[in-house]
Amino acid sequence: MPADSLVPRPAELSTGAYDGLALTPSTRIDADSAARGAEVWLRAELGAATGLPLPRGDGQSAQLRLSVDPAAGLGAEGYRLIVDAEGALIVGHDPAGVFYGAQTLRQLLPPTAYRRAPAAGPGQWRLPSVRITDRPRFGWRGCMLDVARHFMPKHDVLRFIDLLALHKLNVLHLHLSDDQGWRVEIERYPRLTEVGAWREESQVGAGLPPAFDGRPHGGYYTRDDIREIVAYAAQRHITVVPEIDIPGHSQAAIAAYPELGEGEPVGVGRQWGIIDNVLNVTDATLEFYRNVFDEILELFPSRYVCVGGDECPKKQWRVSDTAQRRIREEGLADEDELQSWFVRHFDAYLTERGRRLLGWDEILEGGLAPGATVMSWRGTEGGVAAARAGHDVVMCPTDTSYLDYRQSDGADEPIPVGTVLTTADVYAAEPVPAELSEQEARHVLGAQVNVWTEHMDSPRAVDYMVFPRLSAFAEAVWSAGPRDYAEFLPRLEGHLLRLEALGVEYRPLSGPRPWQRRPGVAGRPRS
Ligand code: ACM
Repeated sequence: MPADSLVPRPAELSTGAYDGLALTPSTRIDADSAARGAEVWLRAELGAATGLPLPRGDGQSAQLRLSVDPAAGLGAEGYRLIVDAEGALIVGHDPAGVFYGAQTLRQLLPPTAYRRAPAAGPGQWRLPSVRITDRPRFGWRGCMLDVARHFMPKHDVLRFIDLLALHKLNVLHLHLSDDQGWRVEIERYPRLTEVGAWREESQVGAGLPPAFDGRPHGGYYTRDDIREIVAYAAQRHITVVPEIDIPGHSQAAIAAYPELGEGEPVGVGRQWGIIDNVLNVTDATLEFYRNVFDEILELFPSRYVCVGGDECPKKQWRVSDTAQRRIREEGLADEDELQSWFVRHFDAYLTERGRRLLGWDEILEGGLAPGATVMSWRGTEGGVAAARAGHDVVMCPTDTSYLDYRQSDGADEPIPVGTVLTTADVYAAEPVPAELSEQEARHVLGAQVNVWTEHMDSPRAVDYMVFPRLSAFAEAVWSAGPRDYAEFLPRLEGHLLRLEALGVEYRPLSGPRPWQRRPGVAGRPRS
């Protein structure tokens, strides 16, 4: 593959005068101990695609050499990749940097390097002579995947992690609970998955009156599934950030344990949207969730733990004796402050345990908890306010980051919702709000795209909505410097061949394939 189809674009790239390096049955890889993870990964991936054994070589006898050198001045997660007459050398600032160098090295090969078994004859594995120096612009390069609305089987989550790693993203935010499903086994409260992990049927589309499919939907990850997902991601330098959404978006938990709720017993949600049933604010409910988070912290080493906090209607609290008593006893002004009090409780809980609370920007309402990091989704205002107040933020405003939004204004987009968000729009979006000063902008940890799955009922549908917009996002969050879509487009076209070799059912740039449409299923587009 020519070096000019790399995605995301490296910071510095020059092509060399040498022939490049042919990978052959005698090619050996060597790595110092800190770079071993990338070596194992490279051997497994390239070995499968090429059929080459790529055995361990030692020192100078190896043609591919991987090492970590924090003194090389490459910066966090940075690397240098040189292919010359000596062979290929990857030096990373840290193990993540070596891994990203290895990812780039794979992109220098033909797209068949992304297959799981050799599909081409021998003799065509040649790395071009290059010199690349590269490092990411942001430390938080994320994707939120909603596995609550539609469950994604573990196998597909692992595949998704590989696709994030290919794009040099480093955060997988897993939305594990919502009104319509609870997706992680909690030993102490088995009904969360026995009852909460499935619903009788699902709303189809967003039309009115709502239509339902009459078909049960469910699934959950066991504790060992989670351990496997977290470890698999860690090998690829991806942190899995768990989200348990409280105090709204909690109907699946309330269906399992009605004592958590404010009203009559309810079933697991079947309909999309914002639901009035929310958690009550009793001591018992706080204790229940502390116990849930105890298990979540044991499973997820992530420093950041997301407690949601979005879209919590206050209707039930306004007429609830417990909620009103709590407001009086705690000297709170109103229900917004009650939500803030609830979130602060878990902020203190997480801080005591050396973790950081992450929440959607509604956690600003009623006062931000002292340790909170804010995900700015309802535009950039929340992010600006939080950064100005000295809090860290992750930018993911709907109009540039919501991959459930329709990809064009064409009539054949499946279940069109939201505003139009094209690949070019995602590419052009600037993660740091223009109104922040340089000092304030330091609080922008980075950005993420959000994949809400109400209208993605299978991994195939997720592929369609996520790719290639995620490829464009990867460059916006990795590469510094100007972005020009006309320059990106030919590289993206080259990159799509990699996705094809991997079997990713992306949206073709010209529009959906016939089977990617959903004729007759209404969406709810906005202009
Ligand atoms: C959200 O989209 N409710 C965070």
